[in-house]
Amino acid sequence: MNLRRLRRTEGIRDLVGETHLLVEDLILPLFVKEGEDIKEAIPSMPGVRRLSLDNLIRVVEEAYTCGLKGVLLFGVIDKRGLREEVDPRAWDEEGIVQKAIREIKKKIPQVVVITDVCVCGYTIHGHCGVVREGEVDNRATLDILGKISLSHARAGADFVAPSAMMDGEVLYIREILDREGYDRVGIISYSVKYASSLYYPFREAVDSSPRFGNRKGYQMDYRNWREAIREAERDIQEGADMIMVKPALPYLDVVSRLRERFSVPLVVYQVSGEYNMLRNYVREFFPGDKSKEREVFREALTSMKRAGADLIITYYALEMAKELR
Ligand code: PBG
Ligand code: ZN
Repeated sequence: MNLRRLRRTEGIRDLVGETHLLVEDLILPLFVKEGEDIKEAIPSMPGVRRLSLDNLIRVVEEAYTCGLKGVLLFGVIDKRGLREEVDPRAWDEEGIVQKAIREIKKKIPQVVVITDVCVCGYTIHGHCGVVREGEVDNRATLDILGKISLSHARAGADFVAPSAMMDGEVLYIREILDREGYDRVGIISYSVKYASSLYYPFREAVDSSPRFGNRKGYQMDYRNWREAIREAERDIQEGADMIMVKPALPYLDVVSRLRERFSVPLVVYQVSGEYNMLRNYVREFFPGDKSKEREVFREALTSMKRAGADLIITYYALEMAKELR
């Protein structure tokens, strides 16, 4: 059997390629904070910056010009000023995320705005919920996630993406949004979020490392895949419009199993540690070689699609969009 015939030229390979990475598949995560003309580098995430609103708008405009359809917003606050356990800026109408949503919707309304809904960036202890007697309290956390989601919806978000891994968060948020007249606002659930070592650069970016303990009491155990099915099933039943697997590359077995079972759009998140690994690999072996860098990321991102992902959240989205254009 001659299998090499179909690999002989680039043209043939392109014709018979089974999977195609498209700019429409990519979602760009962005970090926004108060201030003017801020572009703070994040050392563990080369090329990623914390932006003030003015610069955020410039980047979103560029992203849109390059063909990207969606952005995912994270708010960054200075935790030194925190007084309450969960800082009320998380759901304040004048909070930085709420202002960013309104500004994007005013200037570039075609861009799909997705917001991360969690509290770890707004708590003293860095956990994804309210702590009662040493444990993250599900019920008390839901209340806050509901308030945050509603504030994002009011500001004009297209989707809220709860990432706290609290039980019942999708249903709770869905009911509040519907009750308040935001039934058009969708929910992208971080349904299958593993307790991973690959989030550290992100936690540096938003200052959200837990000050005590870890997240294993709410995020998933990486030994489990059947539990991922239960998480996804439950979230879809509760009203999630899309589901997500996170991190991406070490969990592609889970992605393909979910793809077989569910028909909702499936999102994967190439997280900060994955991004860091690939950037460092390129830095070590191909320093300064942009085209090698793009090739390295193209391989990783394409394998996510091959496994069955519809959409990919990646810090490399803008660079990849320039390549795919
Ligand atoms: C917050 C949140 C995390 C990420 C996205 N939303 C981190 C965490 O659970 O600590 C990780 C993103 C990344 O590593 O790129 N709940
Ligand atoms: Zn969190």
